Order: sequence, then structure tokens, then C-alpha cells
Amino acid sequence: MTSTVARPSVAPAVDLRTTLAGVRFPNPVFTASGCAAAGRELAQFFDVAALGGVVTKSIMVRPRSGRPTPRMAETPSGMLNSIGLQGPGIDAFLEHDLPWLADRGARAVVSIAGGSVEEYVRLATKLRGAPGLAMVEVNISCPNVEDRGQVFAGDSGAAAAVISAVRRQSPAHIPVFAKLSPDVTDIVAIARACVDAGADGLSMVNTLLGMVIDTTTLRPALAGVTGGLSGPAIRPVALRCVWQVAQVLPEVPILGMGGVRTGLDALQFLLAGASAVSVGTAVFGDPRAPVRVLAELEQALAERGIDRVADVIGLATDRLPRPDIARTEEEQ
Ligand code: FUM
Repeated sequence: MTSTVARPSVAPAVDLRTTLAGVRFPNPVFTASGCAAAGRELAQFFDVAALGGVVTKSIMVRPRSGRPTPRMAETPSGMLNSIGLQGPGIDAFLEHDLPWLADRGARAVVSIAGGSVEEYVRLATKLRGAPGLAMVEVNISCPNVEDRGQVFAGDSGAAAAVISAVRRQSPAHIPVFAKLSPDVTDIVAIARACVDAGADGLSMVNTLLGMVIDTTTLRPALAGVTGGLSGPAIRPVALRCVWQVAQVLPEVPILGMGGVRTGLDALQFLLAGASAVSVGTAVFGDPRAPVRVLAELEQALAERGIDRVADVIGLATDRLPRPDIARTEEEQ
């Protein structure tokens, strides 16, 4: 992994703007939930407002200390985490974290997680009118919960129940994105259920459930036994999920994620049908990864003679141009 920001050999002049469910973003590179808290820890490395958006660590109703340690394990080309949704709770988040992002002009995508439909409703209610809120990402796919039945994204009915409740509580101008799990037999069915329930878009994908066993202690390496696998190891799976859903639901905007480490990785997600990408695990080794990925993406587009990010979205699918891309063209 390199921390060097790519130096363009040709001057890029690419229109990097993108839209997600009608909300405009200056570029298509976001942080990923869970990899940089609420963005403050990245501010010493770059201006968080330079990104398309900052996706915050999933916030719950109450403060939460998470799972016991050890909570991280290395894997080939990836990382296993068992954090357990540690966080300050929605009230402290609204008092300290969201205003900090708003003050810096960052576009905040607030990730919410709950143990029941009622908890998601409370979170969505608290977010109404919050300053700087650009979108809500509904995390229905965290693998690190005590009860696998709480992974709402594993079941169409449960996923739909959460999404319709959050959509009803959220202002019409705030898109609600459902964050899906790759650990399902048919991700298109879950995606369709979320969209039918009112999701304005989809975040794809969360980590895959995995496990490491310590051959010295002869016990699971994580105190929580299982954890979420992320990093380049999962990129082909994540990309396949994005592509499959984009093929069938071409009008639904997708925020793609899963092992994005370079501009060319980001380009693959855009070609598969994502309108923007989140950079996650890469920031642990290279905190500047999101801005580097953005620079590399711009350079890669320029080298290919592509003037606008919007022109590559879904190019590797068989679908027609997306309506919101056409709208962006008309408005120019
Ligand atoms: O354990 C965690 O906090 C991870 C959350 C997630 O992957 O959604």
C-alpha cells in the first residue's frame, strides 16, 4: 500500500461531479462507515470537505463500548474486525460530531444501526433537521451482533420493515440508503425489497462474515469469535454484488464499497454501476487514501479521454443511461 498521491503526467480536466438520489456531490469518493469515526481523525491529513462525502461510523441510540478485545485480526489481503458498533450514542453524536462536519463544509452521510425497528425509528427521528446531513445510510448488515437474527439485511421482510420505517421518519429531501450484506444467496432480492420499501439507494457492500483461529492458543483470534472481513480480498465479491444489482435495478443509485484502495479500483465500481465509492480499510494503512484514490481516479479518467465521471457509471453493465445522469446533463 502506498501513501504517495499520484502525480499526473497529463493535466486532468475531468468533471467529477456525481449525484445520488438527486443530491449532488462534488466528486464520487467518500469515506466508508466504520473506518474513520465521524471524520475528525482524518482532518490532520486532509480537508474532509474535499471528499464527495464523509460516511460516519454507524451510530446507535445509546453509547456502546462494543465487543471485547481482541477485535481485529489480519488476513491475506484483508482485515477481520469485531468492533461491535462501538460509539457515543446519537445524542452525543448530534452534539459534537455532526456539527463538526457541518462547520467544515463536509457532506455528512450518517450511518445508523439498531437492534429493532423501533431503534431505527428513534435514530431517524433524532436526525430530522440535523445540520449538514446529506444522506442517511441505514446499516442493516453489521455482522458483529450477538444475534444473527439482527442482521436485517439477511431477510427481505426484515430489511423492508427497517427501511420503510426509516423512510417514513425521514424528510423527503434526505435520501435513505440501505447498506446490504454480501452474505446472502440472492442480493438482488434483498435490494429489490429495500427499494420497494422506499430506499432511495443502496450502499453495497458491508463486510463478509469470517473467522481466524490462532494456532498458538488454538482458539479463535477474535474475542467475538467471528468478524467482518474487509479490504482488497473482498473487492471481487463487492464488485459482483454492485454489478448484479445495477443490471436489474438500473435506476437505483449505488454507493459502492469493498476493498477500494486505488483509483482504478474505484473506476471498476463506477463501471459496475456505482455512482460513488467509499474508501474504508485502506485508511488504516494510509489515512490519505480517499484523496489519493480521488486523484488517481481523475487521472485514470483523463488518460482514457473521459471528461465526466457520469459517463462511466454502469458502462460495464448492459443498462441504459440512468435518469439522474440525464437530469444532470439537462441542468448543465
Ligand atoms: O462491528 C462493527 O462495528 C461493524 C459494523 C459493520 O460492519 O457494519
